[in-house]
Amino acid sequence: MPQSPVLITGGAQRLGRYLAERLLDEGYPVIITYLRERDAVAAMRARGATAIQADFSSSAGIIGFIGHLKESTPRLRAIIHNASVWLPDNAEDIEQEADTYERMFHVHMQAPMLINTHCRELLLAGPEPLTDIIHITDFSAAHGSRRHSAYASSKAGLENLARSFAARYAPDIKVNAVAPAAIMLNRGDDARYIEKLKRKSVLDVLPGPSAVWESVRYLLDARFVTGTVLSVDGGRGVK
Ligand SMILES: NC(=O)c1ccc[n+]([C@@H]2O[C@H](COP(=O)([O-])OP(=O)(O)OC[C@H]3O[C@@H](n4cnc5c(N)ncnc54)[C@H](OP(=O)(O)O)[C@@H]3O)[C@@H](O)[C@H]2O)c1
Repeated sequence: MPQSPVLITGGAQRLGRYLAERLLDEGYPVIITYLRERDAVAAMRARGATAIQADFSSSAGIIGFIGHLKESTPRLRAIIHNASVWLPDNAEDIEQEADTYERMFHVHMQAPMLINTHCRELLLAGPEPLTDIIHITDFSAAHGSRRHSAYASSKAGLENLARSFAARYAPDIKVNAVAPAAIMLNRGDDARYIEKLKRKSVLDVLPGPSAVWESVRYLLDARFVTGTVLSVDGGRGVK
């Protein structure tokens, strides 16, 4: 039986795309989800990925996606929960703040919860003796955030879910989290901000997506690691 695919949510850009491309390089079949149809999605299809449109910002969108996924594949090697919404708190506008928090709850917590619960059989159906779920969380999940408290707290929920599922799904499926601090720049970040970001780590570097790939690669191979959170933060926690 050929190798089972790895599912990466939010796999058309930045970190998700980088992970998808490295897995394709290694010969894994890859399924990505995307929210917005665009050239990058076509490029990932051309590269060999299966791309499924999914909007995780509502229960209906998540449930619909699980149905589409099951039509696309009978089995999975791994699930990487990477899709994310990164927005600041907004105390000026209560309606917008409520809407943002609800969106983050759906994307960061409810989607992984429902996908893990209802795709378990896919992770048990392939030839691989041990399969994986990886939750991409954030440094702020453990440390909080002054300006992104909705984001940080919903990522903390995602991190906590990894522990619950690790216990529930042992010994057949490992479930771990990877918690990066800032690894990549956003459009418009200036030199001063880049220096500030670098100085937050003790290693004084902004490593790019390869730092998370190293952790994902490690977790896929690790036979005795489940229910853990790998900090990929350049030592920011000890500063
Ligand atoms: N970048 C960093 O330095 C950093 C630091 C710490 C943690 N992280 C974590 O690492 C992961 C990747 O970061 P990133 O910077 O590459 O993220 P990003 O550029 O913001 O990408 C987020 C992805 O989530 C998808 N998405 C957004 N809303 C969605 C929705 N409602 N339904 C379905 N998918 C949705 C997007 O789809 P489309 O592409 O179709 O829009 C996009 O591919 C995230 O989980 C993030 O929290 C990143």
